[in-house]
Amino acid sequence: MPAEMMPHSLPFRDADWQRARLDQFAAEMQQRRTIRNFSDRPVPRDVIERILAIAHGAPSGANRKPWRFVAVDDPTMKREIRVAAEKEERENYERRFPDEWLAALEPFGTNWEKPYLEIAPCLVVLFRVDWEEIDGKHVKNYYPIESTGLAAGFFITACHLAGLATLTHTPNPMEFLREICRRPKNEKPYLLMPIGYPADDCQVPKLQKLPLAARLQWNREGVI
Ligand SMILES: Cc1cc2nc3c(=O)[nH]c(=O)nc-3n(C[C@H](O)[C@H](O)[C@H](O)COP(=O)(O)O)c2cc1C
Repeated sequence: MPAEMMPHSLPFRDADWQRARLDQFAAEMQQRRTIRNFSDRPVPRDVIERILAIAHGAPSGANRKPWRFVAVDDPTMKREIRVAAEKEERENYERRFPDEWLAALEPFGTNWEKPYLEIAPCLVVLFRVDWEEIDGKHVKNYYPIESTGLAAGFFITACHLAGLATLTHTPNPMEFLREICRRPKNEKPYLLMPIGYPADDCQVPKLQKLPLAARLQWNREGVI
């Protein structure tokens, strides 16, 4: 059956308009930082859902949207997540991480303690869904890793544009998130992302940001 199509267009914008708009957006995005020191100031659920609606609008392989967001604002569940994450992180920092990894983490001043998992008003647990049971049939999803990464990118951007901060936290192994959130086996924990306002005394590491030129190649220019 041929695909059903519909017209689509964008309002024409010339390069001057694009430069001005992109410069404005870049200035805003340059202020985005990962934070690890959250305020407990509440964020209304409808704001969280607006952010998640933007994340859910990300492109995905064959439009399968192979992700699930679990938004956690229940203090008991947040505590369970903190306790389980700290158990894994303690093991990571004290035994699993090789010296090289610990050295790479030094500039961030992180350790196994994750109090923000209880302090932040909401934790978004993002799962990737590799396959689904639809009408009793096992249906494979396409590019779930790439698609879920894109949804996470949209999520982080939407948080920032709403004046909220987040953290992409990966307290691996993360199976405990599936158990605490009561999700089935086909949903694989992907990222744990607290969302909220920065605490009044929030500090972030001073990081050297690699310039774009170090990661950009036009055609074969500069290739020997
Ligand atoms: C896939 C991924 C996993 C990350 N995992 C952690 C983590 O487990 N704990 C943490 O404190 N930060 C984590 N981060 C945050 C990075 O350290 C942070 O993005 C990086 O230092 C750059 O800082 P910025 O986001 O403020 O620019 C992670 C980031 C990404 C993209």
